[in-house]
Amino acid sequence: MFEEIKKTAAWIGEQTSGFRPEVGIILGTGLGEFGDKIEADYVLDYKAIPGFPVSTVEGHKGRMILGRLEGRRVVAMQGRFHFYEGYTMQQVTFPVRVMQQLGIGYLFVSNASGGINTSFRVGDLMVITDHINLMPNPLIGPNMAELGPRFPDMHNCYDKDLIARATAIAEEENIKLQYGVYVGGTGPTFETQAEYRYFKAIGGDAAGMSTVPEVIVARHMSIPVFGVSVITNCGLSDEVGDHEDVQRQGKKAGVRMEQLFRRMIQQL
Ligand code: HPA
Repeated sequence: MFEEIKKTAAWIGEQTSGFRPEVGIILGTGLGEFGDKIEADYVLDYKAIPGFPVSTVEGHKGRMILGRLEGRRVVAMQGRFHFYEGYTMQQVTFPVRVMQQLGIGYLFVSNASGGINTSFRVGDLMVITDHINLMPNPLIGPNMAELGPRFPDMHNCYDKDLIARATAIAEEENIKLQYGVYVGGTGPTFETQAEYRYFKAIGGDAAGMSTVPEVIVARHMSIPVFGVSVITNCGLSDEVGDHEDVQRQGKKAGVRMEQLFRRMIQQL
C-alpha cells in the first residue's frame, strides 16, 4: 500500500515537473466550481492517475488540479471517492495520502450535509469543530508506521487556530458561519427521521456521507485540517432529501465558501 502511494505520487511528480503543493483542498458535492478558479498549472483526470479509483457520482468532476490560489501552491480534488460507491476505505482515502507525499502541510475539506441543529438554515456554512464517525475506520488494518502511529490522537482534529482564523475572516467579510459536529454515516440513503433525531441526540449538528475518512487519515499523518459543511437540507424538517437540491444549494453557498477558503489560504 505505502509503495502504491509513493508510486502514484512519483507519477504525479513526473507529470507536473515536481510541483510541490502546500495546501490540499477537497471539493464536495456542488462545490467543484471553486476548482475552476484555481490558476491551474496542471489538470489530471482521475482516470489517468495510476492507482486512483474513478468517481461515479453526478456533480463530481473527478480531476486533480495543481496550481496557484492567492499565490500559494495548491492541489485540489474536484470530486472525491465515497464509501457508498463501493470503494474500500483504503481507496476512499488514497488521494489524501498521495497529497501528503506531494508535500501538503494543510488539508481543507468541504462537503454538502444535512442540518440537524434546528437553528441551521439551508445554505448556511458550518465550520466543522469535531466529528462522530459512524463509518468503518479507514485505519483498520496493519498500521503504516511510515505515515503515523497505531493509535492516533483525535483531539484538535479540526485545527483550533484555523477555526479562529475563519471566525476573524468571516467577521471582516460579513460571512455568516455556524459551528458544529459532523456525523459521518455510510449513506447512500439519507437518514430516516428517527436517525436524524438519533444523530442530534448523540451530539451531531450535521449529517453527511464523506469527509470523516479523509480527515482521520490526514490526522494520522499530523496534517492540520480545516473543514466546512454546506447545509443543503434540514433533516428534522418534513422535507425529503434530494440529490439535485443538494447540488443546487452547494453551488449557491460555494461562493461564500470559496471566499473563506481563499482568505484563509492567503494567510497561512
Ligand atoms: N444526510 C446525509 N448526507 C447528506 C445530507 C443528509 O441529510 N444532505 C447532504 N448530504
